[in-house]
Amino acid sequence: MPCADTVPCVAYAPVTVTVGGRLAKALVTASTRWHVEGMTLTHSPRTVLITGGNRGIGLAIARALVADGDHVVVTSRSGEAPEGLQAVACDVTDTASVDAAFAAAEKLVGGPIEILVANAGITQDQLLLRMSDEEFDAVVDTNLAGAFRCARRASKGMIRLRRGRMIFVSSVVGLYGSPGQVNYAASKAGLVGMARSITRELGGRAITANVVAPGFIDTDMTAELPEERKAAYRAAIPAGRFAAPEEVAAAVRFLASDAAAYISGAVLPVDGGLGMGH
Ligand SMILES: NC(=O)c1ccc[n+]([C@@H]2O[C@H](COP(=O)([O-])OP(=O)(O)OC[C@H]3O[C@@H](n4cnc5c(N)ncnc54)[C@H](OP(=O)(O)O)[C@@H]3O)[C@@H](O)[C@H]2O)c1
Repeated sequence: MPCADTVPCVAYAPVTVTVGGRLAKALVTASTRWHVEGMTLTHSPRTVLITGGNRGIGLAIARALVADGDHVVVTSRSGEAPEGLQAVACDVTDTASVDAAFAAAEKLVGGPIEILVANAGITQDQLLLRMSDEEFDAVVDTNLAGAFRCARRASKGMIRLRRGRMIFVSSVVGLYGSPGQVNYAASKAGLVGMARSITRELGGRAITANVVAPGFIDTDMTAELPEERKAAYRAAIPAGRFAAPEEVAAAVRFLASDAAAYISGAVLPVDGGLGMGH
């Protein structure tokens, strides 16, 4: 394979490349971007921002992308970083906080953010009849408007770079529905329309926008469910179990990879078959 200055590689196995007229072997992974500098191939890490990357699914995504060699910054509301990761403080319900977090992250990674994972999210469950305006607004403001604020800010740098990946962490509930989660389902369904509109606006600039829709994942969010509710959910999931956060991270890692360059506006379920057809 002849090498240009920058070679986005999509193979997963050792490949042979031509460097300065000589053949060389290189191990190429999903996220690797190689530069030819003189006679050597050097790896340039991609820049990643993950909202709510301090715990649960976001943390698993961060660890997976760090393992791929990416330059990852996570957000937490406190600004505290999990071990081995860099963090910036961010409250996604506040535009100024989002803008400041991006500026701080860009300083840490030395350039624009190339991959945004909009993962931060909350639940405030209540039956429709009893749900207050505050409960509805809080969930939509965090899960949907929060992702919008991040996508809008991220798009600036991605347009300049002429490449980018936006990955929105939705939920099976967004398409399947769930009693007591009118606010949550509305916020998560909204992410699908948002990703598809971004795809139509920015698809021509090598920017993709996709949605991952997890089912039930073992994190703090599901830990608070009563045991009998968990057992009922498990019985409804064809796979018969909840997933580990790493299983969602694997889907995000794929959508962020060069192998997914032609996938945009898609909804990728990671739900053990729970939402099939939705
Ligand atoms: N667990 C599941 O079964 C499941 C299923 C489907 C979809 N999801 C979605 O996956 C995402 C991650 O869920 P999880 O289970 O990992 O949840 P989690 O363990 O409860 O973590 C939630 C994350 O969101 C952050 N966050 C909440 N409100 C925020 C705000 N206003 N500004 C910035 N960050 C905020 C939290 O930050 P702090 O630590 O600072 O509070 C935390 O990092 C969510 O969008 C959730 O809806 C989860």
